[in-house]
Amino acid sequence: MTPYEIIKKKRDGAALSEEELHFLIRGYVRQEIPDYQIAAFLMAVFFRGMTDEETFLLTKVMIQSGDTVDLSGFGSLSADKHSTGGVGDKTTLIVAPIAASLGLHIAKMSGRGLGHTGGTVDKLESIPGYKTSISNDAFLAQAKDTGVAVIGASKDLVPADKLLYALRDVTATVDSIPLIAASIMSKKLAAGAKNIVLDVKYGSGAFMKTAGDAETLAKKMVDIGKRFGRNMAAVISNMDRPLGHTVGNVLELEEAVNVLRGRVCGDIRDISLTLASELYSLAAGISREEALIKAEKALENGDAYAKLRAWISAQGGDCGMLDDPLGAYADETVTEIKSPTSGYISHMDTEKIGLVSTLLGAGRQTKEDVLDLGAGIRLYKKTGDLAEKGETLCALYTKKTDVSPAADAFLSAVTFSDRPPAKQPLIYKIIR
Ligand code: URA
Repeated sequence: MTPYEIIKKKRDGAALSEEELHFLIRGYVRQEIPDYQIAAFLMAVFFRGMTDEETFLLTKVMIQSGDTVDLSGFGSLSADKHSTGGVGDKTTLIVAPIAASLGLHIAKMSGRGLGHTGGTVDKLESIPGYKTSISNDAFLAQAKDTGVAVIGASKDLVPADKLLYALRDVTATVDSIPLIAASIMSKKLAAGAKNIVLDVKYGSGAFMKTAGDAETLAKKMVDIGKRFGRNMAAVISNMDRPLGHTVGNVLELEEAVNVLRGRVCGDIRDISLTLASELYSLAAGISREEALIKAEKALENGDAYAKLRAWISAQGGDCGMLDDPLGAYADETVTEIKSPTSGYISHMDTEKIGLVSTLLGAGRQTKEDVLDLGAGIRLYKKTGDLAEKGETLCALYTKKTDVSPAADAFLSAVTFSDRPPAKQPLIYKIIR
């Protein structure tokens, strides 16, 4: 078996065996196979695709490249969620405490933001003292006692994905459905939870631009998870407009707290309740309707907010700041952007809005960028809203001296119309 033969086989459209995939991935991680051959393999997969069986096998050999987390001590109550990434997506900060207050155990590894999308670890780091890296024993003990522990991704989990993703990023092979499915599912499965809910986004702020592609990806990932014996659900949801009314780390933390305190309704509350109730329904073996009633109750009676506070304080965070998250970031300059015209907002290019938050300092253009955790956008108007000329559309928070590139980029992301746009559902479909 040689890399050349395997690349040629894929190039010609044949399905690869477990042995062949194992040979390639192991050889790459051990630096025995060079980047240029793996790049050719990735491009062959991009054009030829992979069967469901091959995608499953690729996921399996990727998991075998590193450590796995053993959550079997939590029985059937371990739970995890994953979002394929979006703008203003702070759902983990809401879903994890709701699920934990219903008796689930969330021992979760989360990522950092890159490009136009945000990451949970950055949002958590806006809380002074919060430790995103703790020992494995402390991580499991906290998930047992408090119900939630969220840390940054371990470098020992699926090392193959880190190498492959870096190569995909520079060879135009990121947006391949089998490669995305294997990348996401290898990490989720290695992280050990019995119950997994995937939030698969579609629209202008998502990897998948159409609901159809999001559904194909969701079905593949659900299928892979089930083949590994996990309880799986995928919620296909709209990312054609930012989620909630904030984008940026401490701003999103503040909004999540407000949802948990019953002060905010709308899309961010609805999707969080859907994700939490899917998890609870999978774990408890009850209907999603029954699970939703329990999740709403946990939100309304304050149990979920109490859980957030217990989680943050167990992980070293300053719980007091949750009473006024922005208080610690009072040195940001706030600039209001006014509507240049009167009309309905018919579309928001959500990827561009994510990039505006990067321009303000809230996101990274490269992995090395240092964030301004107080920077970001507060949206006063979203798609479908009517704006009068001169009304405030949003406020930009930043420490940058020149806010005009971000202001111009924001305005260029918004389209106005005389008529309200057709309503798009928040949740397109749920797949199990
Ligand atoms: N997120 C991942 O973790 N992997 C991908 O390939 C795409 C999005």
